[in-house]
Amino acid sequence: MTSARHVAIIMDGNGRWAKRRLLPRSVGHKRGVEAVRGLLRSLDDTGIEVLTLYAFSSENWKRSEDEVSDLMGLLRIFIARDLDEIVERGLKLKIIGDFSIFPADLVTMIQDAQARSASGTQGTLVVALNYGSQQEIAKAAAAAAAKGEVTVETIAAGLETADLPPLDLLIRTSGEVRLSNFLLWQASYAELYFTDVLWPDFTVDHLKQALAEFSGRERRFGGR
Ligand code: FPP
Repeated sequence: MTSARHVAIIMDGNGRWAKRRLLPRSVGHKRGVEAVRGLLRSLDDTGIEVLTLYAFSSENWKRSEDEVSDLMGLLRIFIARDLDEIVERGLKLKIIGDFSIFPADLVTMIQDAQARSASGTQGTLVVALNYGSQQEIAKAAAAAAAKGEVTVETIAAGLETADLPPLDLLIRTSGEVRLSNFLLWQASYAELYFTDVLWPDFTVDHLKQALAEFSGRERRFGGR
């Protein structure tokens, strides 16, 4: 039985969760953050070393100004409220994606949060912000080319996840069955798991269900 060291989640369905309750989308996102909080508190029980969450994609800028600003606000609140607990739990916070174009106060908050949690040894919480996998791969390939050696290894070494264990399991909630420009390279040999559960309803029990299915799958990595 294999256990998953590195799990990534496309947290989808906040909007639909809210719509079903005739609530504004912002409430769905707020409940989405609560689902993140719930998972972090139970992460110890899962054996996961690295949890990577897709919080804001490079395509999310296409959403309304209000929704983008709601999401930024939730990130601020998340860092302000939850960082102490993240540090106490010994988790290291790592951001992937180019968050340098976020509002200046948020950039500073994120940098401080990464610095404050840098010595965490109990696990890593990776949050993807303004992240796009094609952009990440293009940048890594350009860096490899600049050094005169473009190989699978040199490209992989230039990815933002180069210091993390390989991705084992990629989960997407809400019934959508696509990767949406998330960890395309890293997902090459990952197991994929799709569930109809909307993100605000996703609990550690759902995560454990995904992990149980993962441990029952036979991973061949291209061999037989
Ligand atoms: C997808 O739901 C969700 C997002 C685009 C944002 C995810 C962000 C959070 C859960 C909050 C921030 C996270 C952290 C780590 C603090 P959707 O709006 O696309 O839902 P829909 O497809 O039902 O409309």
